[in-house]
Amino acid sequence: TRQIPVPTAPMGWASWNSFAAVVDHNVIKGQVDAFVAAGLPEAGYEYINIDEGWWQGTRDSAGNITVDESEWPGGMKAIADYIHSKGLKAGIYTDAGKDGCGYYFPTGRPAAPGSGSEGHYEQDMLQFSQWGFDFVKVDWCGGDVEGLDAATTYKAISDAVATASATTGRPLTLSICNWGYQNTWNWAPGLAPMYRTSTDIIFWGNKPSMTNMLSNYDQGLHPTAQHTGYYNDPDMLMVGMDGLTAAQNRTHMNLWAISGAPLLAGNNLSTMTAESAAILKNPEVIAVDQDPRGLQGVKVAEDTTGAQVYGKVLSGTGKRAALLLNRTSSAQNITVRWADLGLTNASATVRDLWSRTNIGSYTTGYTTSVPAGGSVMLTINGGTEAASSAYEPSSAAVYT
Ligand code: DGJ
Repeated sequence: TRQIPVPTAPMGWASWNSFAAVVDHNVIKGQVDAFVAAGLPEAGYEYINIDEGWWQGTRDSAGNITVDESEWPGGMKAIADYIHSKGLKAGIYTDAGKDGCGYYFPTGRPAAPGSGSEGHYEQDMLQFSQWGFDFVKVDWCGGDVEGLDAATTYKAISDAVATASATTGRPLTLSICNWGYQNTWNWAPGLAPMYRTSTDIIFWGNKPSMTNMLSNYDQGLHPTAQHTGYYNDPDMLMVGMDGLTAAQNRTHMNLWAISGAPLLAGNNLSTMTAESAAILKNPEVIAVDQDPRGLQGVKVAEDTTGAQVYGKVLSGTGKRAALLLNRTSSAQNITVRWADLGLTNASATVRDLWSRTNIGSYTTGYTTSVPAGGSVMLTINGGTEAASSAYEPSSAAVYT
């Protein structure tokens, strides 16, 4: 009854980072329209995920969730239908515990006691699937407060998701939002195609920051857990939100792409600049993220503290992505060596994924200056595979 994984990390938009718990039919419909107008579907983005705030906990006498139709005319099926009418997939949200996050941290609107799915996993997952949802994020606030065992709890939820999918014939994709406190990477691959590895990238209304971006990236590095179909999730993107420069937004994309992370935009799409849209849509960076081998990039060199090189093995032969990341406060020359990427010294083409030009052919490696706090994203093509040392994860962590 294990869920069939989605092959590459999910891409889409989620409401939490910009709207917190204040979402209704009109907000989501406006974002859907802006998502389409911005050309995000053509770039590969497909999910519209409604996060917390769509429901405050009221159930009828049979335990079914009831929905406030003044905020959601036609109920949740109507918004799922609207999302589908644009050729997109619809996501919804609940909590693994008895009470959801909004009960403990009321933001915008309070959640009633009982606003989680505990005791109703099968009923709620079936309801979401019957409404037409394709994706469900299951949060952990209630589970945390109650001291539930995360692996056991999410296995029951994963089973309920599989049962709901089988019953309706509509695949429901589970997103496990257990924040890494209980080592998600050890038990979640196989229960869901994506599992959070970190705390919130924007915690309760804080501004986006580079510190959180790097911290979430670091918390998400569990390369032996990640395989095609099972992705470490360092949280939703902050690209295009107040507080980050264009260069920082590019670094955000680079980090998530070398990681092979889910790409869920979190900015307000109605006010998105053309520059932010272009950053989210860079096809070459997205291709690194979505590479079908599904591996996570690993750190392969740090010649000077804070001047780091991450390498990711791409599908095909002799292909790598390399991220040159400068965490220091001054410009650094950073070298990516073919040997560190598992390639022998032979001519290979280096391409810069933001200028989208081939820089040239190099036989042992490539050195470039990286600005303070910035990054450079490259692909290396036409290299020769070394006999060993190309990074491959173990399969031990995957449940079947
Ligand atoms: C905690 C999660 O980690 C966030 O992504 C978001 O869903 C909030 N809860 C909602 O309350």
